[in-house]
Amino acid sequence: MDWSIREGTAEDAPAVSKICLSTGNAGKSPLAEPYFRLSSTFAYVLQVDVGKGGPERILGYICGAVDTRKYEEEAGEKWWPGLRDKYPVGGKGTERDIEVCRAFARPTLTPDAVVAAYPAHMHVNLLPEAQRKGWGRRLIDKAAEHIRRFGGRGVHLMIDPNNDEARQFYKRIGFVVIPEPSGECYGLDFERLGRVNSVLGS
Ligand SMILES: CC(C)(COP(=O)(O)OP(=O)(O)OC[C@H]1O[C@@H](n2cnc3c(N)ncnc32)[C@H](O)[C@@H]1OP(=O)(O)O)[C@@H](O)C(=O)NCCC(=O)NCCS
Repeated sequence: MDWSIREGTAEDAPAVSKICLSTGNAGKSPLAEPYFRLSSTFAYVLQVDVGKGGPERILGYICGAVDTRKYEEEAGEKWWPGLRDKYPVGGKGTERDIEVCRAFARPTLTPDAVVAAYPAHMHVNLLPEAQRKGWGRRLIDKAAEHIRRFGGRGVHLMIDPNNDEARQFYKRIGFVVIPEPSGECYGLDFERLGRVNSVLGS
């Protein structure tokens, strides 16, 4: 079976949403779908081709935006209003459902200091069968290549403080903490990524 990375499209959105919900640390990971549907974003998927005309299957993705503020503006106009209509604040559900409806109503904006450090951001998620095989690193290299093409020199991301696996992975790749009181935030300088990769010989 052939595993490869290709650019994501809107048609990948349903498969990617399932991965996001099943792997995103108990649904706490940000939604992936807008990154596959809006224009200020980028997205790549890891797919496995089962061959002989069989359907391809998506095993993971990386997505983000070169310009986080532009993404927040576009999502504010074209993405969050639809979710607000569908899941209004005041509906029934678990504590987590209520929290999510509130987040749709008032999406959190990235702190200025974080955007100032690195305007680009990204999210990465792989199904368990694709983890610990080097694909996370390869997807980050792909995102870095994309962001660099648009003049970016690095990327930021936020992690759920309970997700120690992700923390270990990001540190290994070369991410360092961006001090930020509102959450756990990391930044990756692409020069540093290049140095780490050359030490590893990749
Ligand atoms: C976190 C995640 C993206 C990492 O991708 P991956 O493909 O499993 O990681 P890789 O195989 O590319 O590992 C790259 C390096 O990180 C290290 N690493 C990965 N996960 C690690 C962990 N949990 N603890 C310690 N080191 C880890 C690997 O050993 C490897 O180091 P090496 O190159 O020196 O051997 C992936 O496991 C995943 O999607 N997990 C579930 C969802 C998630 O938590 N996403 C992040 C949300 S913020």
